[in-house]
Amino acid sequence: MTATGAAPGKVILFGEHAVVHGQPAIACTLSDRGVASTCTADPDGPRLDMPEWGQSVRPATTDRAVEAVPRAFALALAFVGLPAEARLRVTVEGNLPPSVGMGSSAAFSVALLRGLAAFAQRPLTEADLLEGGTQLEGVFHGDPSGLDHTTVALGGCVYFRRAGSDQDKVVRRIALPAPVHLAMGVTARAGNTRQLVARLKTRAADAPRAFAPVFDAIGALAGEGERALEAGDWARLGVLFDVNHGLVNALGVSTLACELMVDRARAAGALGAKLTGAGGGGAVIAVCEDATHARAVAAALDGLPEVRAFATTLQA
Ligand code: PMV
Repeated sequence: MTATGAAPGKVILFGEHAVVHGQPAIACTLSDRGVASTCTADPDGPRLDMPEWGQSVRPATTDRAVEAVPRAFALALAFVGLPAEARLRVTVEGNLPPSVGMGSSAAFSVALLRGLAAFAQRPLTEADLLEGGTQLEGVFHGDPSGLDHTTVALGGCVYFRRAGSDQDKVVRRIALPAPVHLAMGVTARAGNTRQLVARLKTRAADAPRAFAPVFDAIGALAGEGERALEAGDWARLGVLFDVNHGLVNALGVSTLACELMVDRARAAGALGAKLTGAGGGGAVIAVCEDATHARAVAAALDGLPEVRAFATTLQA
């Protein structure tokens, strides 16, 4: 028997990092990037192969010293009710580079849960998938806001705010009236989300009066961004991207590579550009007029050292 599961990649349009601190954020899945899992019966199982990421692992118990992928595999098997020694092989493949801010760990988690649940013939509700995603993303990122896996599990454009002591969780879909064309650049250097989030937490706790207004301003952009997205006002979306980039830079997570990409995208006529994801290595998105324009901006980014760029669209 063979069972499959899939999940798209995502980009954060507004609110990375500030979302960890209780602000709203917007993320959207990509129409042409993602991962898929294929589960087959195998007497030598359980085994999880990820040829593109150079990994082939067995599940491991939740010993914190153990690598994240084997632990996530063990958690996923248990979550769908399969035994730790299940005789199966899972292959996860796709076109998402890891650790650059495209939601590879969230897509991996959701695709794995979907594939294993199909193999176990256990239907997963949306709530199950969000709960399983929280558990698996916790292995990769420690204390994730939930933005990544919620967006990847629901698909499309999502306005999200995490629950806190003084606020309820908010999750709502944003309907896009037309495709949004992006140019995206990623550097070869991977960022470490867990470390970047922890460092910012310390800095924000040490200087709350410096950081609180920045987080608030980023949160306000999510509301503005939702209106621009619903109205199909890409020029305004671009301006809001530019403002968000300046604010995320103030948080200390941008890199020279990101700054160069943002500058190059704007010079090539993008409507606006910003860092996307945790930063620290770097991915940048630039909103463009149409597909032709997005390809031209991507070509301009491709000229930068160690940058891989492409045009993509947001999943409506
Ligand atoms: O770079 P990514 O795709 O791992 O996104 C991280 C987003 C953060 O806001 C920095 C962390 C979080 O938990 O939301």
